[in-house]
Amino acid sequence: MMQRSVVLVKPDGLQRGLVGEIIHRFERKGMKLVGLKMVRMTDEVVDEWYAHHRDKDFFADLKGFMQSAPVVAMVWEGVEAVATVRKLCGVTAGRQAEGGSIRGDFAMSTQMNLIHAADSEETAKKELGLLFKDGEIFDYDMCGLPWMYGKQELEKENQADNG
Ligand code: CMP
Repeated sequence: MMQRSVVLVKPDGLQRGLVGEIIHRFERKGMKLVGLKMVRMTDEVVDEWYAHHRDKDFFADLKGFMQSAPVVAMVWEGVEAVATVRKLCGVTAGRQAEGGSIRGDFAMSTQMNLIHAADSEETAKKELGLLFKDGEIFDYDMCGLPWMYGKQELEKENQADNG
């Protein structure tokens, strides 16, 4: 199985009408969408999601912000999906993010930075478990796959599955 990354369009992205734009960027890149839903993040989910930020002075603001409107949660699959997704997002602080990245093109803020992306494969697994149930992640053949990757790249992924 190819690597999966979890992405949230945060409440600011939803309110600013950027959901389609953000999905479009991952689609155009050649990534495979295997899960998509709109959710309100509960207290429990936010506390667990941002457990590593719980002691920070911005945590209360961050929590309020993440619960101020629903988020759009997505799971994207691809070779090295975690790193690729983060590259498309740009660095956390919107003003510093490179032009061409999602934050670089659309965000001015560090908190209101439109999007969250898992920072490692382990985090992605944890986040997937927090928001998605069995049956909400889809396995299907993506017809364009042979046009996205070279043969050897795909074979390497299959070998990793079988070994
Ligand atoms: P994210 O990548 O989802 O990870 C943690 C989030 O906390 C981050 O995006 C921002 O939304 C927010 N955040 C990080 N640093 C700060 C900060 N210094 N001040 C306010 N919010 C922050």
